[in-house]
Amino acid sequence: MQHAILRFGWVEPDGLNGLPRQMSETRTTLQAAALATSEAARETDPGFLWDFWYPAVRSEAIRGHRLVTAMLLEVPLVLGRTAQGHAFAMRDSCPHRGIPLSYGHFDGQTVECSYHGWRFEACTAQCVEIPSLTSQDKLKVDRVFAGHYPCEERDGYVWVYMTAPGTRVPENVPAAPALPVFSKNYKSAQLACELPSHIDHGIIGLMDPAHGPFVHQSWFWRSRHSIHAKEKQFEPIPYGFRMSPHSPSSNSAPYQLLRKMTGEGVTTTIDFVLPNMRLEEIHSGKLWFSSRATVTPIRRDLCRIDFVAAWNLFFLPVFLFRWFGKTFLRQDQQTMIRQAEGLKYDPHLMLIDDADRPAKWYFALKANLLEARRTGSAMAHPMTGPVTLRWRS
Ligand code: FES
Ligand SMILES: [Fe+2]
Repeated sequence: MQHAILRFGWVEPDGLNGLPRQMSETRTTLQAAALATSEAARETDPGFLWDFWYPAVRSEAIRGHRLVTAMLLEVPLVLGRTAQGHAFAMRDSCPHRGIPLSYGHFDGQTVECSYHGWRFEACTAQCVEIPSLTSQDKLKVDRVFAGHYPCEERDGYVWVYMTAPGTRVPENVPAAPALPVFSKNYKSAQLACELPSHIDHGIIGLMDPAHGPFVHQSWFWRSRHSIHAKEKQFEPIPYGFRMSPHSPSSNSAPYQLLRKMTGEGVTTTIDFVLPNMRLEEIHSGKLWFSSRATVTPIRRDLCRIDFVAAWNLFFLPVFLFRWFGKTFLRQDQQTMIRQAEGLKYDPHLMLIDDADRPAKWYFALKANLLEARRTGSAMAHPMTGPVTLRWRS
């Protein structure tokens, strides 16, 4: 798979005499995200955000004494569940000679390497036995650890806290993200799809408001002729931005249906939060729909969208939601597959106002976070207050 080089230019209408000024994006984060296929470029920073939770696999994938593999941020992982029911995530590599631990044996407590039988306690990754040692040997077995990562289950996913290579697990790891729900009883569903894209393209595709009329034309959603001017208010939130509560687009049939059902107004709020999360809440009277999409980097040229939704809309059965959701994701996926074809040849790209402003905020948030971590200072927010964006979609 070829890699994209993310080189964006953008046009800002803030030239001295009001003329657009072509700006070349030179910020280091974009260069850090720059990718190439050459061996030299493999050494470059792939632009991942470490020290965040990422969903690795669905909870149902780890059961019994099964060892399951996954990859996050180009780190191979082996996951499983102890006899007590705790999910664990280790680096899928034996610290002795590097053979994947997933070829080994798991007894519900310890993972035994398939090569020389070293055994590691699953949750701490601490070595408990090196079978070749004799009573003469001085090696302290309990000082040997395999790589391991904090692991929590939420909303049917096994989340792994991806600490940066060569760093220790911090003392205070925040709780893994949870999908907001607004009543005791609700239905929920999960969907996933892989995109042959760098994480940044996956994310800006996720927040892109202008592709709807072209990519998501469906009889049940909208036609391209319904395109019209929109004006949305955005505000800064920690690590991200919010499309302030508003009545959703009148050109989408499901919202019209919801309005008819409750006889009340519909409001929707959409947040984007670093590293990779889009959260949407829709409320109308007592009815609600809540969803979260995360774009998780697997490798620099591959990411995965995990979409989870919960709702108490009595008229929306799970199978119907899954059908709608799959249609949407397939449309995005097909577009990203085609985009990857174009990105192989290292094109220059553009971010335009206002439709690509959220993408610019994403890049700026990412750059500011990395800068704050580098310097130990507070993270600057790219937005100073509420902003109104206008586009047609
Ligand atoms: S490689 Fe795992 S025990 Fe030797
Ligand atoms: Fe889309």
